[in-house]
Amino acid sequence: MTLITGQAASAQAATAIDELEARIRDRVATIGVVGLGYVGLPLAVEFAKAYPKVIGCDMNPDRVEMLAGGRSHIADVPHAEVAEAVGAERFLTSTDMSLLGGCDAIVICVPTPLEKSKDPDLSYVRGAAKAIADALRPGQLVILESTTYPGTTDELLLPLFAQNGLQLDRDFLLAFSPERVDPGSTYALRDIPKVVGGCSERSTAVACELYGSIVNSVHPVSSARVAETVKLLENTFRLVNIGLINEFALLCSHLGIDSGEVIGAAATKPFGFMPFFPGPGVGGHCIPLDPLYLSWKAQQQGFISRFIDLADQINSQMPAHVVELVMDALNSRAKAMRDSRILIVGVAYKNDIDDTRQSPAIAVIDRLRARGAYVAYHDPLVPVLDFDFHDWPEWRPRVTLPSERRSLRVANHRAFSRRRRYDMLESMELTPKLLADTDCVVILAKHRSVDYAMIAQHADLVVDTRDAISAELRASARAQVVRL
Ligand SMILES: NC(=O)c1ccc[n+]([C@@H]2O[C@H](COP(=O)([O-])OP(=O)(O)OC[C@H]3O[C@@H](n4cnc5c(N)ncnc54)[C@H](O)[C@@H]3O)[C@@H](O)[C@H]2O)c1
Repeated sequence: MTLITGQAASAQAATAIDELEARIRDRVATIGVVGLGYVGLPLAVEFAKAYPKVIGCDMNPDRVEMLAGGRSHIADVPHAEVAEAVGAERFLTSTDMSLLGGCDAIVICVPTPLEKSKDPDLSYVRGAAKAIADALRPGQLVILESTTYPGTTDELLLPLFAQNGLQLDRDFLLAFSPERVDPGSTYALRDIPKVVGGCSERSTAVACELYGSIVNSVHPVSSARVAETVKLLENTFRLVNIGLINEFALLCSHLGIDSGEVIGAAATKPFGFMPFFPGPGVGGHCIPLDPLYLSWKAQQQGFISRFIDLADQINSQMPAHVVELVMDALNSRAKAMRDSRILIVGVAYKNDIDDTRQSPAIAVIDRLRARGAYVAYHDPLVPVLDFDFHDWPEWRPRVTLPSERRSLRVANHRAFSRRRRYDMLESMELTPKLLADTDCVVILAKHRSVDYAMIAQHADLVVDTRDAISAELRASARAQVVRL
């Protein structure tokens, strides 16, 4: 048996980090991606173009199987790209996290939701980090991409990885790099600069080398904590400005001023103004949640971030405001909300995407049905809309019993839905007949693939929260169009 002295052991481990760096630089490294969702899948596919082997691990066996069959579940990632990477054996998917032991670099892209109390829920990050810690060996780089509060990488991940006697810089490297994908946008991943902050200088340098292979520009920062905060600033900026413009739209409607016209005119200023547009509220996995990670952390240190809380309140109240607009619009036609037939157009949380997570459409539909309306929807990007009201607070005014939540499709069949906590609707085909049968159309997301001219011509009443019915269409519309 050969005895390795402490000094010799660290010399051996230092070599492991050097080797890791060389493998990344020479583009022969094996890359692991944990969590193959909206963030992890595009990243894995991009890595598979630069490195010979990418191992994608996900706890969802259906997702793993689908990807292994060469099919993508993300609209922005074409099936062909997945099929090509899988076919060339550059992209392997598995639920077996022990495979991560064979990776040189591992990137964590798991969800970071909020608890019902609006406190951060880091259980997915903890779960992924624990699995990585179990497989960790000298010569690995781990990067967290999940959006989280400042300090997570240093305070949660680092101690976990150092548990088995492994040391930062000697045995492993650790960094944070925020993901900035914008689903539905035309920005290619390669063209979005990557911010990287490591728990050590070496971690930053090697993580920058890794990302330099798949994006055109990498911006190193001094620490993981700074990199974590960068992402939260970006999303807080959006939350607060959306909150501001939503409040501005309400203010304008009180003054009888067209907010859309004001924003359009202000946007002609070539400097110092960036247009934001009002809508039915915020959704998705980022804007409604991430800033609350920042305010939570600030609160732990005794600091109250008023802007975040205020913007969150304003944005959260927008679905209720939309329902009020619908009620007023129906009232102007001497119709009650109860038993009215309402068609929602666009249930995704933003335009031209298929993601319904945290979508304000769910809150709007729930409130409409709680007031006794029959609700159906049309969204060409979302064939089925699943509700799980377990996630929703009990704020719903109970004008009717929950068992009486009704859908337009059901109304057409003269039956009642008896579902309580779980529910599901299917997208209805948009036809002149459906529009003529509807008391009010409510536009919550504006998709390029929807025929708004048909809505303007065949609907009677439209509440348009996205300025989807243009001024030109409004001029010749049969429908009365109410805007935010
Ligand atoms: N969606 C976006 O546009 C976006 C943009 C920037 C940043 N982010 C951030 O990126 C992170 C991931 O978001 P997403 O939208 O990709 O989430 P997602 O829900 O689309 O995907 C997450 C995946 O992780 C898997 N998973 C969860 N826990 C796991 C574990 N312990 N081990 C293995 N797999 C696990 C899930 O099965 C799922 O497939 C979040 O922190 C989010 O805030 C998201």
